[in-house]
Amino acid sequence: MVTLTMDGRKIEAPEGATLLKAANSANIEIPQLCSNEELEHYGACRLCVVEITHKNRTRIVASCIYEVAEGLEVNTRSERVLNVRKLVIELLLARNPRHPSLLKIAEDLGVKKSRFEAEIKGCILCGQCIRTCREVVGVSAIGYEGRGINKRVATPFEESPPDCIACGSCHFVCPVDVIPMKEKDGVRNIWKTDFPLQKCESCGRYFAPVKQLEYFREQYNLPPEQFSKCTHCR
Ligand code: FES
Repeated sequence: MVTLTMDGRKIEAPEGATLLKAANSANIEIPQLCSNEELEHYGACRLCVVEITHKNRTRIVASCIYEVAEGLEVNTRSERVLNVRKLVIELLLARNPRHPSLLKIAEDLGVKKSRFEAEIKGCILCGQCIRTCREVVGVSAIGYEGRGINKRVATPFEESPPDCIACGSCHFVCPVDVIPMKEKDGVRNIWKTDFPLQKCESCGRYFAPVKQLEYFREQYNLPPEQFSKCTHCR
């Protein structure tokens, strides 16, 4: 364990923990939009910035990627920190001015509207969808495309993603709900592609994409009949 000071309080945290994690454990709230305990640290949104002082040197760091250290002094709400967060949320609001999560963070920071001209994209480029697909599901069906202001999440060559198993993880993990997924008449549509759903042989309910079940069967070497019934009927 290491001992550090956060907002004037002495706290302990395990070596290797991030400042964000240490803050959460100490019930100190830091806003964030791209950190996820199931994923590698990434540091994309920059909302989680804090000010650290170490050996008389003060600087701003992203708390979700910066690790705790013995004797570190951390200020999670200094004027400098709040100014950076305000700037970040204004930039995010220019991309997505309506999502409740962003509006709530803006309200907490006292930001009423963005100074920046709206360039509505919806996606805030937190990368959680891409990382979940790669790190948790293990298929890398989507990725970034373009550079700078044109950077966006897309399928390879804008076509139906050949590796997508329609699990919907990207849809569920998106903090601003911009990855549409619909289900109708035994078909799930995601990334502009239709994926048939498996019908339970007992109750007749459609319960999961056929491609996702095939993927699991292959991954875990399961018999073909493994997913012929839904979880309720199994
Ligand atoms: S949560 Fe730290 S940069 Fe997004």
